[in-house]
Amino acid sequence: MADTPRPGDAAAVSGAGGDGPSAVAAAGAPNAAVAAAAGAPPPPGTLPPSARASRAEVAKRKIESQFAKLKAERADLATRQADLERHLEATTLSPLEKDAARKEHVRKETAFLRDRRRPMSEANFETLAIIGRGAFGEVKLVRKRDTGEYFAMKKLRKADMLRKEQVTHAWSERHVLVAADHPFVCKLCFAFQDAVSLYLVMEFLAGGDLMTLLIARDTLTEDESRFYVAEMIVAIDSIHKVGFIHRDVKPDNILIDARGHCKLSDFGLCKSFAGDVAAATAASSAADPAAVPPLSATSPAGSAATGVPVQSMAERAAAWKRSARKQAFSTVGTPDYIAPEVLLKRGYNKECDYWSLGVVLFEMLVGYPPFYAEDAVKTCRKILNWQDTLRFPAEAKVSWAAKTLISSLLCDAEYRLGSKRGLDDFRDHPFFAGIEWDRLASSEPPFVPELSGPTDVRYFDEVESLEAPGGAVVGAGPGGGGGGGGGGGGAGDGKTAAAAAGNGEFIGFTYRRYDKKAAARPALGKGLFDAPPPPAAGGV
Ligand SMILES: Nc1ncnc2c1ncn2[C@@H]1O[C@H](COP(=O)(O)OP(=O)(O)O)[C@@H](O)[C@H]1O
Ligand SMILES: [Mg+2]
Repeated sequence: MADTPRPGDAAAVSGAGGDGPSAVAAAGAPNAAVAAAAGAPPPPGTLPPSARASRAEVAKRKIESQFAKLKAERADLATRQADLERHLEATTLSPLEKDAARKEHVRKETAFLRDRRRPMSEANFETLAIIGRGAFGEVKLVRKRDTGEYFAMKKLRKADMLRKEQVTHAWSERHVLVAADHPFVCKLCFAFQDAVSLYLVMEFLAGGDLMTLLIARDTLTEDESRFYVAEMIVAIDSIHKVGFIHRDVKPDNILIDARGHCKLSDFGLCKSFAGDVAAATAASSAADPAAVPPLSATSPAGSAATGVPVQSMAERAAAWKRSARKQAFSTVGTPDYIAPEVLLKRGYNKECDYWSLGVVLFEMLVGYPPFYAEDAVKTCRKILNWQDTLRFPAEAKVSWAAKTLISSLLCDAEYRLGSKRGLDDFRDHPFFAGIEWDRLASSEPPFVPELSGPTDVRYFDEVESLEAPGGAVVGAGPGGGGGGGGGGGGAGDGKTAAAAAGNGEFIGFTYRRYDKKAAARPALGKGLFDAPPPPAAGGV
């Protein structure tokens, strides 16, 4: 069974059978048209990243991509038409009213198709604030100029993606965001590109990320943690069902919306720990976990064996908070949430996401993650020796139910909760007693962000822009104060960047989500507390 995606590949759920992100999405998606609708070109992961496609080849792939999109568009159109007829059949509307509904449907479809043919660019959006920064670009709060709707726009520099061989990750992020249409998964509204960058325009989740909440709160109560973990189990289960493994579940990729519900985001897996992992396992032959230099079997994390000075729980929590902030801004990230089977590169499957969620739950209740150490190599060693290093500090008041859940997540993949039946493995766990799994989306969240309006970014650290006005990158490195501003307009400088980026790899990236409510386009100044802004219809 092809259940061994290489780190760096599209996250293929075992059995998907594909060899690239598009194939994965198609095989796993309930509607195979999803991948095609995504405009899936020949799987980019199958191209050597450095291969420079000839002009004829690029033109051919463009045509193929357009053709695939057109076909998918037709199929979607027919599906929507059939849905409408089914719906009308079931209503008691008069023939006249049914006719009016059909006319309205045609009007919406025409508007969507017209808009769809209008190319989209960064200039269609006004930048209001920089809200995040990652390894390949930044995330901004933007306003779409024609509709006044607010979105989060993630910009990825093509040249960086190519240089670091991350093309597949950009595709995987786009595909999963398109395929996963779920209340607990961040929604992609548009994807487009120019010569220099790729753009993912998502719903703006105004409550910030869980890492920021944890930094502010130290720990969460069991009730609060139960809510977030339950929503994330449902989210993880939903992306597994459409054929993806997230592989990067951690607090800064769990975002909170304006109502307080959380959503899984960041499907790029752009961070690479190759160096750290190699260092942790190389000397002792990575293939054999038993050969990894053992840590002290009896001492809790923080001992002579680890080289980490013994610290109190409060000291460790403080040290973690200091380093977590730093790591969030680094291009390397932290290995704290990675499952041992992923570190060992021996083949892993979707249950690795549930390990990561176990780490997040431990961190929520204790204040730092279970395998925290002063450097990444030591953390990797601790993870590989989890049987000996997983300890609940006595000072932390963790209930028996929470401990059993964490122990059922931080364990061998084979026995891990979620590995057999996904969400159903968790339904009867005592930690979740009282949780109404199927009504989570309408339940009361434990924390509701206080927001003064749609442009309130108080739950985000101000991040300095990487760009000079006009789109040129002026520097990189951890952000500090500053904030706001940033290049709003231009499509960036054309030719040199285009040459550097070898544009063939990104043919077909463009996407627009069909919005069922498009006809009733919201008036400008629509309240923030309404449902996430519906994407405008249209586009190429
Ligand atoms: N849709 C969004 N709404 C609000 N904030 C977001 C959104 N997407 C990303 N962010 C912010 O930007 C940060 C980085 O984005 P992410 O997609 O995780 O990129 P990276 O791959 O660089 O980690 C997130 O941790 C979050 O704080
Ligand atoms: Mg992230």
